[in-house]
Amino acid sequence: KLDKKILVTGGLGYIGSHTCIELINNGFNVSIIDNLVNSDITSLKSIEKITGVKITFYRVDLTDYKKIKNKLENENFDVVIHFAALKSVRESIKFPEKYMDNNIGSLKNILKFMKYKNIKKLLFSSSCTVYGKPDSLPVTEESIFKKPESPYAETKQISEKLIDEFSNKFKQNSISLRYFNPVGAHHSGLIGEKPKGKPENLVPYITETAIGLRKSLSVFGSDYKTKDGTPVRDYIHIVDLANAHVAAVIRLINYKSKKYYEVFNIGTGKGHSVLEVINAFKKVNKVDINYKIVGRRKGDIDIIFSDNTLSRKTLNWKPKKTIEDMVESSWRWQKNINR
Ligand code: NAD
Ligand code: UD1
Repeated sequence: KLDKKILVTGGLGYIGSHTCIELINNGFNVSIIDNLVNSDITSLKSIEKITGVKITFYRVDLTDYKKIKNKLENENFDVVIHFAALKSVRESIKFPEKYMDNNIGSLKNILKFMKYKNIKKLLFSSSCTVYGKPDSLPVTEESIFKKPESPYAETKQISEKLIDEFSNKFKQNSISLRYFNPVGAHHSGLIGEKPKGKPENLVPYITETAIGLRKSLSVFGSDYKTKDGTPVRDYIHIVDLANAHVAAVIRLINYKSKKYYEVFNIGTGKGHSVLEVINAFKKVNKVDINYKIVGRRKGDIDIIFSDNTLSRKTLNWKPKKTIEDMVESSWRWQKNINR
């Protein structure tokens, strides 16, 4: 049993909540900070119900350093996992300062707090969006950062640079996981992705259309240079993604890497087109979805999928779930919240 204490920021969000469950299942002690800006306190209850463990929760806005310090002064942590951020690409284009202030401000406060408390291990949520439009496929961790497609993407590029500098300066070990497209839900149907308002991402839009909350799914473009003309992405099951965090935390604790800052792609290495996801959903769940092909969405690229060789080898992790598992669990979750 790994009796280590992990501070999880944004732990009530979609990826954070699934990760907390897997951390607890692996014997870690978890405390959560969240300000509920994009989550709901019921996900705390659900994590406790699934794991049978009571969790320490702090409702704190991470842009408020004084409050972080006051609330956590007497706590000690072995590792910080920093999920908390705003993640809407569309909103970030409208309000770029809001994204800089929240995402970069929160990270700077977390780094300052880690230094103050002498916490030497950090795991950070990055995204495949840091690669922009890649020159070659699949993308490896060596691929350079291209021009960011949105202010949101820019916050991830800046965050990674800040963590890299900080880790080398203070000789601490940090890992960024660059997630590809996380989808799906916990098999219990108790937690999942619950967008506030109209979904921006494909799978939540599919499930909300299938259940009747949306009239029709718009497929954004069919003239891309891909197998069927619709864009291709590397969809990864949320529980596989959560387990990648457990693997990365174990690496941070057990292995003193000579490189203070490491990055790993977290994807399946396989690409699926929009139409393939829709068809998998229809076939597995035996429900129809009303959709129509419309014009392209600004900022979308043709195709991206990961080379996950490094994470498989170094983290001793591998994705286990298929696209069928992803669409099946998403649907179970959607039916559960709309009962
Ligand atoms: P989410 O919105 O469900 O979770 C983020 C959580 O952080 C929410 O609970 C929110 O309330 C909290 N939060 C935001 N700002 C905060 C602040 N200032 N103080 C305290 N709490 C704050 O998002 P998610 O999908 O779980 O994403 C988690 C992380 O992974 C984010 O950093 C996101 O950018 C990154 N990421 C997500 C995806 C994706 O598709 N979901 C892909 C790549 C990277
Ligand atoms: C988006 C973000 C990316 C973020 C990622 C997390 C953009 C441009 N990028 O990636 O920064 O890291 O989410 O998962 O928003 N689609 C439709 N109809 C819809 C919704 C989506 O056809 O209603 C298509 C899109 O054109 C895209 C695919 O489905 O080809 C996946 O879209 P989405 O789930 O939004 O993810 P990404 O755009 O890949």
